[in-house]
Amino acid sequence: MADWKNEAEAREQIKQLVAEYYHDFKEKKEPFKPGGRISYASRVFDEKEMQALTDATLDFWLTTGRFADRFEKDFAAWIGVKYAHLVNSGSSANLIAFMALTAPELGKRQILPGDEVITVACGFPTTVTPILNYGAVPVFVDVTVPQYNLDVTKLEGALSEKTKAVMIAHTLGNPFDIKAVRAFCDAHGLWLIEDNCDALGSKYTIDGVTKFTGTWGDIGTSSFYPPHHMTMGEGGAVYTNDPLLHRMILSFRDWGRACVCRLRAAQEVPGLHRKKKAQLGQAQKGFRACRRQADTPGTC
Ligand SMILES: Cc1ncc(COP(=O)(O)O)c(C=O)c1O
Repeated sequence: MADWKNEAEAREQIKQLVAEYYHDFKEKKEPFKPGGRISYASRVFDEKEMQALTDATLDFWLTTGRFADRFEKDFAAWIGVKYAHLVNSGSSANLIAFMALTAPELGKRQILPGDEVITVACGFPTTVTPILNYGAVPVFVDVTVPQYNLDVTKLEGALSEKTKAVMIAHTLGNPFDIKAVRAFCDAHGLWLIEDNCDALGSKYTIDGVTKFTGTWGDIGTSSFYPPHHMTMGEGGAVYTNDPLLHRMILSFRDWGRACVCRLRAAQEVPGLHRKKKAQLGQAQKGFRACRRQADTPGTC
Protein backbone atom coordinates (compact mmCIF):
# COMPACT_ATOMS: atom_id res chain seq x y z
CA MET A 1 0.00 0.00 0.00
CA ALA A 2 1.41 3.38 -0.98
CA ASP A 3 2.31 5.79 1.76
CA TRP A 4 0.06 8.77 1.12
CA LYS A 5 -2.85 10.27 3.00
CA ASN A 6 -4.84 11.90 0.25
CA GLU A 7 -4.81 12.61 -3.49
CA ALA A 8 -2.89 15.89 -3.22
CA GLU A 9 -0.12 14.20 -1.32
CA ALA A 10 -0.12 11.24 -3.73
CA ARG A 11 0.27 13.62 -6.64
CA GLU A 12 3.21 15.39 -5.04
CA GLN A 13 4.94 12.09 -4.32
CA ILE A 14 4.44 10.86 -7.88
CA LYS A 15 5.70 14.15 -9.31
CA GLN A 16 8.72 14.02 -7.05
CA LEU A 17 9.49 10.51 -8.29
CA VAL A 18 9.09 11.69 -11.89
CA ALA A 19 11.65 14.44 -11.24
CA GLU A 20 14.06 11.85 -9.89
CA TYR A 21 13.36 9.61 -12.88
CA TYR A 22 14.20 12.52 -15.18
CA HIS A 23 17.50 13.21 -13.43
CA ASP A 24 18.47 9.52 -13.33
CA PHE A 25 17.47 8.49 -16.84
CA LYS A 26 16.63 11.38 -19.15
CA GLU A 27 18.88 14.25 -18.24
CA LYS A 28 21.82 14.71 -20.60
CA LYS A 29 24.88 14.80 -18.39
CA GLU A 30 27.60 14.70 -21.01
CA PRO A 31 28.64 18.14 -22.29
CA PHE A 32 28.78 18.56 -26.06
CA LYS A 33 32.00 17.37 -27.68
CA PRO A 34 33.10 18.54 -31.14
CA GLY A 35 32.13 15.85 -33.63
CA GLY A 36 29.05 14.93 -31.58
CA ARG A 37 25.52 15.04 -32.92
CA ILE A 38 23.69 18.38 -33.06
CA SER A 39 19.95 18.18 -33.62
CA TYR A 40 18.78 21.09 -35.75
CA ALA A 41 15.56 20.93 -33.81
CA SER A 42 14.24 18.67 -31.13
CA ARG A 43 12.11 18.65 -28.04
CA VAL A 44 13.88 20.32 -25.14
CA PHE A 45 12.54 19.42 -21.73
CA ASP A 46 13.50 18.93 -18.13
CA GLU A 47 11.85 17.61 -15.01
CA LYS A 48 9.32 20.47 -14.94
CA GLU A 49 7.82 19.41 -18.27
CA MET A 50 7.73 15.77 -17.21
CA GLN A 51 6.03 16.73 -13.96
CA ALA A 52 3.47 18.88 -15.77
CA LEU A 53 2.76 16.03 -18.17
CA THR A 54 2.30 13.71 -15.19
CA ASP A 55 -0.02 16.21 -13.52
CA ALA A 56 -2.18 16.23 -16.66
CA THR A 57 -2.11 12.45 -16.87
CA LEU A 58 -3.29 12.15 -13.28
CA ASP A 59 -6.21 14.48 -14.05
CA PHE A 60 -7.02 12.14 -16.93
CA TRP A 61 -9.00 14.99 -18.49
CA LEU A 62 -8.37 13.96 -22.09
CA THR A 63 -9.73 16.97 -23.93
CA THR A 64 -8.85 20.65 -23.50
CA GLY A 65 -9.12 21.62 -19.85
CA ARG A 66 -7.30 23.60 -17.22
CA PHE A 67 -3.89 23.37 -18.91
CA ALA A 68 -5.21 24.42 -22.31
CA ASP A 69 -7.18 27.30 -20.77
CA ARG A 70 -4.11 28.56 -18.98
CA PHE A 71 -1.93 28.20 -22.05
CA GLU A 72 -4.37 30.12 -24.26
CA LYS A 73 -4.54 32.95 -21.74
CA ASP A 74 -0.80 33.14 -21.07
CA PHE A 75 0.14 32.73 -24.73
CA ALA A 76 -2.21 35.54 -25.79
CA ALA A 77 -0.76 37.82 -23.11
CA TRP A 78 2.83 36.95 -24.05
CA ILE A 79 2.50 37.38 -27.80
CA GLY A 80 0.33 40.48 -27.35
CA VAL A 81 -3.09 39.59 -28.76
CA LYS A 82 -6.57 39.55 -27.29
CA TYR A 83 -7.53 36.03 -28.35
CA ALA A 84 -5.55 32.82 -28.82
CA HIS A 85 -7.11 29.43 -29.44
CA LEU A 86 -5.50 26.03 -29.34
CA VAL A 87 -5.93 23.48 -32.10
CA ASN A 88 -4.31 20.12 -32.79
CA SER A 89 -1.60 21.29 -35.22
CA GLY A 90 -0.15 24.21 -37.15
CA SER A 91 -1.84 22.87 -40.27
CA SER A 92 -5.20 22.92 -38.50
CA ALA A 93 -4.38 26.44 -37.31
CA ASN A 94 -3.90 27.48 -40.95
CA LEU A 95 -7.12 25.74 -41.95
CA ILE A 96 -9.14 27.41 -39.18
CA ALA A 97 -7.54 30.80 -39.87
CA PHE A 98 -8.48 30.57 -43.53
CA MET A 99 -11.96 29.18 -42.92
CA ALA A 100 -12.70 31.99 -40.47
CA LEU A 101 -12.36 34.35 -43.44
CA THR A 102 -15.01 32.43 -45.38
CA ALA A 103 -17.72 33.24 -42.83
CA PRO A 104 -20.78 35.08 -44.22
CA GLU A 105 -20.63 37.32 -41.14
CA LEU A 106 -17.73 39.12 -42.83
CA GLY A 107 -20.03 40.57 -45.48
CA LYS A 108 -18.26 41.84 -48.58
CA ARG A 109 -14.92 40.70 -47.24
CA GLN A 110 -16.01 37.06 -46.99
CA ILE A 111 -13.77 34.84 -49.12
CA LEU A 112 -15.94 32.94 -51.60
CA PRO A 113 -15.00 29.97 -53.81
CA GLY A 114 -13.25 31.38 -56.88
CA ASP A 115 -11.81 34.34 -54.98
CA GLU A 116 -8.05 34.77 -55.12
CA VAL A 117 -5.55 34.57 -52.29
CA ILE A 118 -1.96 35.66 -52.79
CA THR A 119 0.62 33.24 -51.45
CA VAL A 120 4.18 32.15 -52.25
CA ALA A 121 5.46 29.72 -54.87
CA CYS A 122 8.00 28.27 -52.45
CA GLY A 123 6.66 27.55 -49.00
CA PHE A 124 5.08 25.05 -46.66
CA PRO A 125 2.23 22.93 -48.15
CA THR A 126 -0.39 23.62 -45.51
CA THR A 127 -0.07 27.37 -45.90
CA VAL A 128 -1.65 26.79 -49.31
CA THR A 129 -3.91 23.74 -48.98
CA PRO A 130 -6.75 25.50 -47.09
CA ILE A 131 -7.10 27.84 -50.08
CA LEU A 132 -7.35 24.91 -52.50
CA ASN A 133 -9.58 22.81 -50.24
CA TYR A 134 -12.14 25.57 -50.12
CA GLY A 135 -12.11 26.19 -53.87
CA ALA A 136 -10.45 29.59 -53.73
CA VAL A 137 -7.55 30.27 -56.09
CA PRO A 138 -3.98 30.56 -54.82
CA VAL A 139 -2.05 33.18 -56.77
CA PHE A 140 1.61 32.28 -56.47
CA VAL A 141 4.21 34.99 -56.12
CA ASP A 142 7.92 34.18 -56.31
CA VAL A 143 10.34 34.43 -53.40
CA THR A 144 13.67 36.15 -53.13
CA VAL A 145 16.87 34.13 -52.70
CA PRO A 146 18.47 33.55 -50.23
CA GLN A 147 15.68 34.76 -47.88
CA TYR A 148 13.04 32.48 -49.46
CA ASN A 149 10.41 35.02 -48.46
CA LEU A 150 7.83 36.69 -50.67
CA ASP A 151 9.20 39.12 -53.27
CA VAL A 152 7.12 42.19 -52.39
CA THR A 153 7.90 43.86 -55.71
CA LYS A 154 5.61 41.26 -57.34
CA LEU A 155 2.57 41.95 -55.14
CA GLU A 156 0.84 44.60 -57.28
CA GLY A 157 1.18 42.35 -60.35
CA ALA A 158 -0.61 39.53 -58.50
CA LEU A 159 -3.59 41.70 -57.54
CA SER A 160 -6.94 41.33 -59.28
CA GLU A 161 -10.55 42.29 -58.60
CA LYS A 162 -10.99 38.87 -57.02
CA THR A 163 -8.13 39.15 -54.53
CA LYS A 164 -9.38 38.90 -50.95
CA ALA A 165 -6.35 37.96 -48.86
CA VAL A 166 -2.63 37.34 -48.55
CA MET A 167 -1.66 34.15 -46.72
CA ILE A 168 2.07 33.56 -46.29
CA ALA A 169 4.62 32.22 -43.82
CA HIS A 170 7.74 33.71 -42.33
CA THR A 171 10.26 31.33 -43.86
CA LEU A 172 12.47 29.39 -41.46
CA GLY A 173 12.20 32.04 -38.79
CA ASN A 174 13.07 35.00 -41.01
CA PRO A 175 10.22 37.50 -41.07
CA PHE A 176 8.98 38.50 -44.51
CA ASP A 177 8.74 42.21 -45.31
CA ILE A 178 5.72 42.78 -43.04
CA LYS A 179 5.78 46.54 -43.54
CA ALA A 180 5.35 46.24 -47.32
CA VAL A 181 2.82 43.40 -47.11
CA ARG A 182 0.75 45.12 -44.41
CA ALA A 183 0.71 48.36 -46.42
CA PHE A 184 -0.35 46.44 -49.56
CA CYS A 185 -3.18 44.72 -47.67
CA ASP A 186 -4.34 47.98 -46.09
CA ALA A 187 -4.27 49.78 -49.44
CA HIS A 188 -6.45 47.14 -51.11
CA GLY A 189 -8.69 46.04 -48.22
CA LEU A 190 -7.21 42.53 -48.04
CA TRP A 191 -6.96 40.13 -45.12
CA LEU A 192 -3.49 39.12 -44.00
CA ILE A 193 -2.92 35.68 -42.48
CA GLU A 194 0.57 35.34 -41.04
CA ASP A 195 1.67 31.72 -40.85
CA ASN A 196 3.96 32.17 -37.89
CA CYS A 197 4.70 28.47 -37.43
CA ASP A 198 8.40 28.91 -38.12
CA ALA A 199 8.93 32.30 -36.53
CA LEU A 200 7.43 32.28 -33.05
CA GLY A 201 9.31 34.80 -30.93
CA SER A 202 10.63 36.87 -33.86
CA LYS A 203 10.02 40.58 -33.50
CA TYR A 204 9.40 43.13 -36.21
CA THR A 205 9.42 46.92 -36.04
CA ILE A 206 7.27 49.22 -38.15
CA ASP A 207 7.52 53.00 -37.63
CA GLY A 208 9.04 52.58 -34.19
CA VAL A 209 6.45 50.03 -33.01
CA THR A 210 7.91 46.59 -32.25
CA LYS A 211 5.64 43.55 -32.06
CA PHE A 212 5.96 39.81 -32.40
CA THR A 213 5.51 38.28 -35.84
CA GLY A 214 2.08 36.72 -36.09
CA THR A 215 0.46 39.79 -34.57
CA TRP A 216 0.80 42.19 -37.51
CA GLY A 217 -1.71 40.29 -39.63
CA ASP A 218 -5.43 39.87 -39.04
CA ILE A 219 -4.80 36.30 -37.92
CA GLY A 220 -1.58 34.56 -36.88
CA THR A 221 -0.92 30.82 -36.61
CA SER A 222 1.59 28.71 -34.70
CA SER A 223 2.65 25.08 -34.65
CA PHE A 224 3.80 23.28 -31.53
CA TYR A 225 5.12 20.22 -33.35
CA PRO A 226 8.51 19.25 -31.83
CA PRO A 227 10.89 20.97 -34.29
CA HIS A 228 9.31 24.35 -33.53
CA HIS A 229 10.18 26.79 -30.79
CA MET A 230 7.84 25.29 -28.22
CA THR A 231 6.27 21.88 -28.31
CA MET A 232 3.21 20.10 -27.03
CA GLY A 233 3.92 17.03 -29.10
CA GLU A 234 1.22 17.91 -31.57
CA GLY A 235 -0.56 21.24 -31.33
CA GLY A 236 -1.13 24.64 -32.82
CA ALA A 237 -2.70 28.01 -32.11
CA VAL A 238 -4.74 30.59 -33.99
CA TYR A 239 -4.68 34.16 -32.73
CA THR A 240 -6.22 37.51 -33.48
CA ASN A 241 -7.14 40.86 -31.99
CA ASP A 242 -10.42 41.04 -33.88
CA PRO A 243 -13.50 40.05 -31.80
CA LEU A 244 -15.49 38.95 -34.86
CA LEU A 245 -12.65 36.81 -36.22
CA HIS A 246 -12.20 35.39 -32.73
CA ARG A 247 -15.83 34.32 -32.80
CA MET A 248 -15.50 32.79 -36.26
CA ILE A 249 -12.31 30.96 -35.27
CA LEU A 250 -14.05 29.43 -32.27
CA SER A 251 -17.05 28.48 -34.36
CA PHE A 252 -14.95 26.72 -37.02
CA ARG A 253 -12.83 25.04 -34.36
CA ASP A 254 -15.76 23.82 -32.30
CA TRP A 255 -18.36 22.25 -34.56
CA GLY A 256 -19.89 25.46 -35.86
CA ARG A 257 -21.09 26.71 -32.53
CA ALA A 258 -22.40 30.23 -32.45
CA CYS A 259 -21.84 30.77 -28.75
CA VAL A 260 -18.68 31.72 -26.92
CA CYS A 261 -18.71 29.97 -23.60
CA ARG A 262 -16.57 31.98 -21.27
CA LEU A 263 -18.35 34.72 -19.47
CA ARG A 264 -15.36 37.01 -19.87
CA ALA A 265 -15.40 36.51 -23.63
CA ALA A 266 -19.19 36.78 -23.69
CA GLN A 267 -18.94 40.24 -22.19
CA GLU A 268 -16.45 41.30 -24.85
CA VAL A 269 -18.22 40.00 -27.94
CA PRO A 270 -21.57 41.57 -28.66
CA GLY A 271 -24.48 39.39 -29.69
CA LEU A 272 -23.26 36.18 -28.11
CA HIS A 273 -25.61 33.41 -27.23
CA ARG A 274 -25.75 32.30 -23.64
CA LYS A 275 -26.88 28.90 -22.46
CA LYS A 276 -30.51 28.59 -23.55
CA LYS A 277 -29.97 30.70 -26.64
CA ALA A 278 -26.99 28.66 -27.85
CA GLN A 279 -27.09 28.32 -31.60
CA LEU A 280 -25.20 26.12 -34.04
CA GLY A 281 -24.83 28.10 -37.26
CA GLN A 282 -28.33 28.52 -38.66
CA ALA A 283 -29.69 25.60 -36.62
CA GLN A 284 -32.63 26.12 -34.34
CA LYS A 285 -31.79 27.95 -31.13
CA GLY A 286 -31.23 25.65 -28.20
CA PHE A 287 -29.66 22.94 -30.35
CA ARG A 288 -26.82 21.52 -28.23
CA ALA A 289 -24.19 23.74 -29.66
CA CYS A 290 -21.09 23.56 -27.57
CA ARG A 291 -19.39 20.79 -25.75
CA ARG A 292 -18.75 22.67 -22.55
CA GLN A 293 -22.44 23.32 -22.34
CA ALA A 294 -23.09 19.58 -22.45
CA ASP A 295 -20.21 18.71 -20.15
CA THR A 296 -20.63 21.48 -17.64
CA PRO A 297 -24.16 22.89 -17.66
CA GLY A 298 -24.28 26.56 -16.86
CA THR A 299 -20.92 27.50 -18.35
CA CYS A 300 -22.28 28.49 -21.71
C1 LIG B 1 5.44 27.34 -42.11
C2 LIG B 1 4.69 26.17 -41.57
N1 LIG B 1 3.35 26.19 -41.59
C3 LIG B 1 2.63 25.17 -41.10
C4 LIG B 1 3.23 24.05 -40.57
C5 LIG B 1 2.38 22.92 -40.09
O1 LIG B 1 2.48 22.67 -38.72
P1 LIG B 1 2.10 21.21 -38.13
O2 LIG B 1 3.26 20.31 -38.47
O3 LIG B 1 1.93 21.42 -36.66
O4 LIG B 1 0.85 20.79 -38.81
C6 LIG B 1 4.62 23.97 -40.53
C7 LIG B 1 5.28 22.78 -39.97
O5 LIG B 1 6.46 22.64 -39.92
C8 LIG B 1 5.39 25.05 -41.05
O6 LIG B 1 6.71 25.03 -41.05
